[in-house]
Amino acid sequence: MLRNSLFYKCKGFYRHFDITQTVKMSRKVYFDNSATTMVAPEVLEAMLPFLKNEYGNPSSVHFMGDAAAKGLRLARKQVADSLGCLPSEITFTSGGTESDNMALIGVMTSLMRGGSDRKRIVTTAIEHEAVLEACEELRRRGCEITVLPVDKEGYLDPSALDDAVSEDVAIVSVMAANNVVGTIEDISELSKVAHEHGALFHTDAVQGYTKMKIDVKKDGIDLLALSGHKIHAPKGIGALFVRTNVPISPINYGGGQERGLRSSTENVPGIVGLGKAAELAMSTMDDDIRMMTKLRDEIIDDMSYIRGAHLNGPTGDRRLCNNTHFRFDGVKGLDTVIKLSKLGIAASAASACSAGSTEPSYVLMALGLTPEQCVSALRISLSRYNTEDDVAYLKEVMSGLEL
Ligand SMILES: Cc1ncc(COP(=O)(O)O)c(C=O)c1O
Repeated sequence: MLRNSLFYKCKGFYRHFDITQTVKMSRKVYFDNSATTMVAPEVLEAMLPFLKNEYGNPSSVHFMGDAAAKGLRLARKQVADSLGCLPSEITFTSGGTESDNMALIGVMTSLMRGGSDRKRIVTTAIEHEAVLEACEELRRRGCEITVLPVDKEGYLDPSALDDAVSEDVAIVSVMAANNVVGTIEDISELSKVAHEHGALFHTDAVQGYTKMKIDVKKDGIDLLALSGHKIHAPKGIGALFVRTNVPISPINYGGGQERGLRSSTENVPGIVGLGKAAELAMSTMDDDIRMMTKLRDEIIDDMSYIRGAHLNGPTGDRRLCNNTHFRFDGVKGLDTVIKLSKLGIAASAASACSAGSTEPSYVLMALGLTPEQCVSALRISLSRYNTEDDVAYLKEVMSGLEL
C-alpha cells in the first residue's frame, strides 16, 4: 500500500497533482539512483557510533573531541584515496551544490582579490544548475561567462573548447558525467586544453564519481565536486577536492573549520558515512560497473521493442553505466512516471531538481530535442543494488503499459 502525491510546475507555478491513492504492488523497484541512492548498510553501521556515543565536536580537546577528529581523519583519507589525492586536498561540504559553488565562487573571489586579469569562466550548456547558477552569480559580480554548446549526444569537443579559451579564462568547468543523459565527457583531454591556456580545470563529478575511473592527477583536475547521497552515503554531505596551491577563498565565514575554507562544525556522522561509502565503492567498483553496464544495456535493448521509444544521449560506450534515458513519441514523461509508480517502479521524467516540472529540460534542449520530445522523457537510473529481476519486472511492466 502506498500513498502518493506530486507537485509539478506549470507556467511557472507549482501545482498539486493529486495521485493520492491506494496502490497494491506486487513489488517495489527503485530506478531513480541519479536522484539519490539508498544508504548502504555498511555506511549506516559506520555512522551509528558517531550518532550515539562518539558525538563530540572534533575541535574539542578532550577524548570525545579526539574520537570525532579521528573519524574525520579516516574519512578524509578514504575520500582522498578514492581520487588519488592528498587528504589535505579534501574539504567536506554539505553536498554537490556547495562544492560546485565553493569551487567557482571561491576561486574567482580569490583571483579577483589578487587583481588577476583572468575574469572569464568557460562551461557547457548541460551543466547542473549548481554550476550554471554559480556562474550567473559570478556574472553579477563582474565575471564573464561563456557557455559552450554540446553535440547531440552531449559531448563537448576539445577543439571547440580550444577555440573558446584564451588567456582571460580563469576556470574551465565541465562535468565528468551528465545527470540527465549520462554523457561521460573526455575530462583528461578537456583539462589539457584548459591548462594549455593557463586556466584551471573544475569538474562536477557528482554523477560520475565511483561510476567511472577518476584520478585527479592523471585526469589533470584542479577542482572536483562530489556528493554523498549519490554514492550510498546520506544526503547533506559532500566534498570538494582542491589541488594544493590552487587559489581559493572561503564562501562562508565563521570558526575556520576545514583549514579555514569551510566554517561550521563538521557533520561528523555524514563525513564518516561519506568516507565509508567511498571506500566501499572503490573496493567493488570494477564489478559494480560491469554489472550495471550489463543491466543498462538490457534495459536499452528491452525498450527498443516498445513502439515510439527512442534512446536519448550517447549511443556508444561513453555513457554512465547506471544511466538510461528515453523518450516516447507523443507521451508525457510525467504520465509514464506516475503509471510506473502505481506499479511499484520509481523512475524519473527528468533530473531530480526538476522532476516535477513540465517545462522542457534545458539539457535535452541543448542536445537538439524539440520541446515535445523533451517532455516525453523517462530516466531509469541504476545502482549496484539493482538486479536482473528488477530489470525483468521493468520489462514486464513497460510492455503492458498503455503509452
Ligand atoms: C551533476 C550534479 N551536480 C550537482 C548536483 C547537486 O548535488 P547535491 O544534491 O548534493 O547538492 C547534482 C544533484 O543531482 C548533480 O546531479
